[in-house]
Amino acid sequence: MSRPTGWKSYDSVAEEYERLTPSVFGRLANDLVELLAPDPSALVLDAGTGTGTAADAVARRLAPDGAVVGLDPSPAMLSLARGRATGLVTGALPGLPFPHESFDAALANLVLSHLDDVEGAVADLVRVIRPEGRLGATAWPEDRDPPPDNDAPRARRLIESALDETGLPLELPEQGAPAEEWLKDEGNLRSVLSGAGLEGLAFEVQTYRYKLTAADYLGWHAWAGRGRYLRSVSDQAAVGRFERHAVATLEQSFPDGIRMVSPARVVVGTKPG
Ligand SMILES: C[S@@+](CC[C@H](N)C(=O)[O-])C[C@H]1O[C@@H](n2cnc3c(N)ncnc32)[C@H](O)[C@@H]1O
Repeated sequence: MSRPTGWKSYDSVAEEYERLTPSVFGRLANDLVELLAPDPSALVLDAGTGTGTAADAVARRLAPDGAVVGLDPSPAMLSLARGRATGLVTGALPGLPFPHESFDAALANLVLSHLDDVEGAVADLVRVIRPEGRLGATAWPEDRDPPPDNDAPRARRLIESALDETGLPLELPEQGAPAEEWLKDEGNLRSVLSGAGLEGLAFEVQTYRYKLTAADYLGWHAWAGRGRYLRSVSDQAAVGRFERHAVATLEQSFPDGIRMVSPARVVVGTKPG
């Protein structure tokens, strides 16, 4: 099992993640579950469940005889997933602690990008679903020219200036989500899923629009890879100075809030019978 450690772990940001992301990632999880279409009595694995957002989206579709198991390497994230899944298991991909063909379906919402071994992880997910069972996943798509109502590129530049002006590092020593760029190419995602034997791959790109206050934009920055790294290498006072400076600059530039436009790719495939 390859469990993320140090700043790559989500342990230190679980509460911020839970406060900010379910309203946005929950919409993506709903679209994933819609495409996955599990039987109401299915046993479903939510791999990389985090605080259980996708497990919750599955559970709301299941009948009382269905169940969802959430698995994640981060105990802090899992502790906030209580009540959203029938069972919670500490573990990581690849190396799932389940026998072959244990589940009717499995999903991984915004998880594959975090893995060093995407091929091994997908093969392991396919191993634990039964023949004719389905696997669903999401990933970020290619960067396109942002639509004019997307404030994210400008907000990101302001954050980078604030980091620079407070003398904090702009670059990460290595990617927090090592497969993110590679998976943006639909062909790579298709080849890893079909390479693991999945058939009938159905792809969708969904776009989510939402608005953040300057403080919440900073909160998203804090839980994501660069924010986790920054907190691990910088003293708290310096991070505090950066955050105050960034919030003031963002509030000045976006007095009505920061409009975010976020496309995501959803894919589902079936294990042959
Ligand atoms: C962006 S979060 C997504 C969480 C959740 N699926 C959601 O929809 O909100 C990524 C999650 O992947 C987990 N993760 C990181 N490495 C993993 C691995 N090797 N196997 C399984 N999960 C992993 C992290 O702990 C984190 O909870």
